[in-house]
Amino acid sequence: MVKVILLNLILVVAAFSNNEAIIDAKIEKLLAKMTIEEKIGQMTQYNGFWEVTGPVPNDGSANLKYEDLKNGLVGSMLNINYKTNAVENIRKVQEIVVNNSRLGIPLIFGLDVIHGYKTIMPIPIAEASSWDLEAIKKSARIAAVEASASGINWTFAPMVDISHDPRWGRVMEGAGEDPFLGAKIAAARVKGFQGDDLSAINTIAATAKHFAGYGFAEAGRDYNTVDVGRITLYNTILPPFKAAVESNVRALMNSFNVLNGIPATGNKFLLRDILKGVWGFNGFVVSDWSSIREMINHGYAAGLKQAAELAIEAGCDMDMESYAYKSYLKELVIEGKVDISMIDDAVRRILRVKYELGLFDDPYKYCNSDRSKKMVGNSEHIAAALEIAKKSIVLLKNENNILPLKKAQKKIAVIGALAEDKDSPLGNWRAAAEANTAVSVLEGIKNYTDNVVYIRGIDADSSMDNSGFPEAIDAAKKADIVVMVLGENGNQSGEARSRANISLPGLQQELLEAVYNVNKKIVLVLMNGRPLIITWADEHLPAILETWHLGSQSGNAIAGALFGDYNPGGKLPMTFPRSIGQIPIYYNHYNTGRPYVKSETFCSRYIDEVNNPLYPFGYGLSYTRFEYSNLNIDDSDQKNIKVTVEVKNVGKIKGEEVVQLYIRDKAARVVRPVKELKGFKKIVLDPGQSKRVEFILTDRELGYYLSNGEYIAEPGEFEVMVGTNSRDVLHRKFILK
Ligand code: NOJ
Repeated sequence: MVKVILLNLILVVAAFSNNEAIIDAKIEKLLAKMTIEEKIGQMTQYNGFWEVTGPVPNDGSANLKYEDLKNGLVGSMLNINYKTNAVENIRKVQEIVVNNSRLGIPLIFGLDVIHGYKTIMPIPIAEASSWDLEAIKKSARIAAVEASASGINWTFAPMVDISHDPRWGRVMEGAGEDPFLGAKIAAARVKGFQGDDLSAINTIAATAKHFAGYGFAEAGRDYNTVDVGRITLYNTILPPFKAAVESNVRALMNSFNVLNGIPATGNKFLLRDILKGVWGFNGFVVSDWSSIREMINHGYAAGLKQAAELAIEAGCDMDMESYAYKSYLKELVIEGKVDISMIDDAVRRILRVKYELGLFDDPYKYCNSDRSKKMVGNSEHIAAALEIAKKSIVLLKNENNILPLKKAQKKIAVIGALAEDKDSPLGNWRAAAEANTAVSVLEGIKNYTDNVVYIRGIDADSSMDNSGFPEAIDAAKKADIVVMVLGENGNQSGEARSRANISLPGLQQELLEAVYNVNKKIVLVLMNGRPLIITWADEHLPAILETWHLGSQSGNAIAGALFGDYNPGGKLPMTFPRSIGQIPIYYNHYNTGRPYVKSETFCSRYIDEVNNPLYPFGYGLSYTRFEYSNLNIDDSDQKNIKVTVEVKNVGKIKGEEVVQLYIRDKAARVVRPVKELKGFKKIVLDPGQSKRVEFILTDRELGYYLSNGEYIAEPGEFEVMVGTNSRDVLHRKFILK
């Protein structure tokens, strides 16, 4: 009996061995043993610096880093050679620390696992187009399974930056323009990466980045200044970060930008007041690459020493590649400028995540070659990549049902270098993917029909070589239908890939028009990392399919949609402008005192462009049609306003629809947007089938933040809009009492 009780007790204790209190006690015990140098070491992150399977180079910095590792003066490494033998490489670096340093505190290994590790998923903005939270979570889960089997235990994802500016190249990495959708996707991604148990062998710590405001870079130029009011900060920029924190994200990364005059990396208001204060975040904050040092360029710190002081004071816990903490923190403590308690707090946070990951129990737990062989790129993952790729496709135009193509179609001319490109669909940030491993559009199409002629015609880069035009025009003349694959290659979006002109790069527009002159039956397959300006294409072409960069299975997914094996159901998470001068353009803008009136001169408008976008937020067609009716509101329970709508598939084939609910708070203490997404449901309907879709609106959906951070839901009239996108909606009203 006693034995049984004892055994049970042991089991219970074991089960809770990772709980917070036990981890906290372990942290305190370890912290008490650490020298100040070792503490600062935990706050230092280095880039992978040598080919660890080969000899250490004689380069001074590499030797220095090597020495620092041996002496326990490094807490984390990023980018350890992961392209080949990641497991062995990471194990070797971990061994240096564990075997040589005084306390043997294991490193945490970070990498940008943004949309897949080796099996590459659609780029994040593409996945966001699926509006399918389960699929998005699964995608992150698979990325974590592959990365964790390769020695990685920390990803610098998800990027949750909201942006209104498609010139900014990093919109490919986010979930678009909307804070509500962005918050849901942020949570799904964090849960996908981290799973339910961070100590499991196949989960990794996630990082919500870039905190904060990075997506609001002026003129869409990467790293540029950000100047936004508190209302925008609280209501638009912060919600996805808050959702990530509520999902227990273990790290946040500073953004490079200045936010309202203060660099985000040195921004106490963001880090100490909001993140660690109001939100109670107990993970750690990592700087972006050299962002502590860059505070000198910003004109905020006079030198690296002051930069270190400002960053730690603000609440940045780990220094990625600025060498600021390592060089100056100790001196700053001795001089009395930095309180040791701030360092202790940072170290506690970093150690906590290491304990939670289980690195102290086994520093090599992620370094198992057999697991790596079994997990990385396995067939289940590839099948999942195909599913999410299909869901990410958005049908933008389909006049006279030119799509889907008939399988016994006559001659198809496929034109454009992107059609045979096996690399670009992998997109930017492709972790350990091998180059040229995506299924190309051409390969996908050839699985359906042999009656295809392919002409390269033009590259997607900015090359001005039009020598391929005649052949393309000739092929188009002889074809029954032309599939043109145009857009951006995998390198034309992403970090530091801002574009001032976001039409089709290079001579692609010219080729498109030249082909159109000889054959108007063109299906435009767009491949791109951001909304493009395709106004001419929309006016002239019968069909446009937005496919972004869809990852490893790109060509199969696209061909599936082209030939109707898959009925596209994606919806744009970001507005497509008609012209560059409309940017920034987004659906949830405020009204003006002089909203647009057709007959009025002195109203808010352009004299040379319409106000509305080419395709609104939430837009996307299907091969079938959905009819919305009977929008009803039951506000008898004011705490749970019930909204119902009937959606019917009035077409001939089965389809998926994202039913979207928007609200407008008609008069408020602070003006509210003309529309705000507050609910969405993805449904599947057979032909003729209809469904009643229900939404519940609570204070959580109806309220908003004041500029002091206070959240309120105010009584008054609300408009409710439900529909197939943010433009085409049914309207109803209710009063919140
Ligand atoms: C800079 C990027 O801004 C950030 O997102 C990334 O995680 C780091 N480099 C590390 O690669």
